[in-house]
Amino acid sequence: MRAQICIIGGGPAGLLLSQILHRAGISCIVLERHSRDYVLARIRAGVLEWGSVEELERAGVGSRMRAEGIPHDGVLLAARNRAIRIDFKDLIGRQVMVYGQTEVTHDLYDARDAMGGTVITEAEGVTLQGLPDTPYVTYVKDGTEHRIDCDYIAGCDGFHGPSRKAIPEALLKTYEKIYPFGWLGVLSETPPAAEELIYASHDRGFALCSMRNPHLSRYYIQVPLDHKVDQWSDEAFWAELKRRIPHDAAETLVTGPSIEKSIAPLRSFVAEPMRWGRLFLAGDAAHIVPPTGAKGLNLAVSDVHYLSRALIAHYRDGSEELLDRYSETALARVWKAIRFSWWMTTLLHRFPDQSDFDLHIQAYEIEYLGDSRAARTALAENYTGLPF
Ligand code: APR
Ligand code: PHB
Repeated sequence: MRAQICIIGGGPAGLLLSQILHRAGISCIVLERHSRDYVLARIRAGVLEWGSVEELERAGVGSRMRAEGIPHDGVLLAARNRAIRIDFKDLIGRQVMVYGQTEVTHDLYDARDAMGGTVITEAEGVTLQGLPDTPYVTYVKDGTEHRIDCDYIAGCDGFHGPSRKAIPEALLKTYEKIYPFGWLGVLSETPPAAEELIYASHDRGFALCSMRNPHLSRYYIQVPLDHKVDQWSDEAFWAELKRRIPHDAAETLVTGPSIEKSIAPLRSFVAEPMRWGRLFLAGDAAHIVPPTGAKGLNLAVSDVHYLSRALIAHYRDGSEELLDRYSETALARVWKAIRFSWWMTTLLHRFPDQSDFDLHIQAYEIEYLGDSRAARTALAENYTGLPF
């Protein structure tokens, strides 16, 4: 087989890239290791920056998001005796869209079907070959080996995929920070705790009240790294969540059976550069953020924004300029989101080795946010998304 672009990974980054390129007349094939059902059953985050909303709309996948997504004007930061509303609308005139990543992925698969896009699922043993200059990709499907010749490979295969690993170690610089805790998440068919998201900083640890729609809620609590899902019954989860969130929200909280429960470790990670010859990385393949700033999916969208423009410029005008600048351009935005996600995480979590001094700094940083419109504006600007 032959395609101009071979895209590895059928998550949001790979699917959105193929959607945008196909609409621009560029041929691409997506190779995904798992089945479509598996990919669509994964529960991931649910907050879209407005820039992501607009990018999805431009790609022709905005209609269900517009109908079913919930625009939010702000979030609540709750700490000790203080609740601080970060009013995005008032502070910077922007909103975010609450719409699950699972739904975004669903819409992208539907759009790819509607255009007759090629997405090969259950592709085993995907291997990047001929790099850096003469790329091709081999894989096995139903016991038969196949080969795709291409001009470029887009590595959109997440943190554990083969694309980043195909780059020689000596050429790649990685930066990593592992946080000493995880998030225990619960999805439940209950109405959300409040109209907006609540980020709660508590002596017992962080908690987050989020949602997918008026009947489906998503909650998280910070847990030690060695905790296992099995040791958290639904009852224990709800009791702990209620201890950490504001009293009024705890009192009216509607609980119910969890329909998904999982623990995710928190990590910041960046690999530089995001290009090696004719291989380009996008999304989680190149970087990971802790979920506190809701940036993971949004960074995948911004990488795809830059990479798709660069590839389109190359095929339309023969211009290499944007391709040559892709890694630098994407990383400049990635690092700002890495910084913001680290900051939100550091602000709101309890760390095992925190001294009294550290705790006071944390408490007064939250205090300052409550007192200062400038501080809230900085948070709002980053949370709703820096410009592309
Ligand atoms: N061959 C083919 N596909 C692979 C391989 C492989 N060897 N390894 C991984 N993949 C696929 C995964 O199965 C997954 O569907 O690549 C896809 C990567 O998708 P995501 O992990 O969703 O990453 P990305 O598309 O970059 O989206 C970023 O997803 O993980 C969240 O927090 C993250 O919200 C962010 C978003
Ligand atoms: C979620 O709804 O899953 C979610 C929302 C905000 C975050 C992280 C996760 O910061």
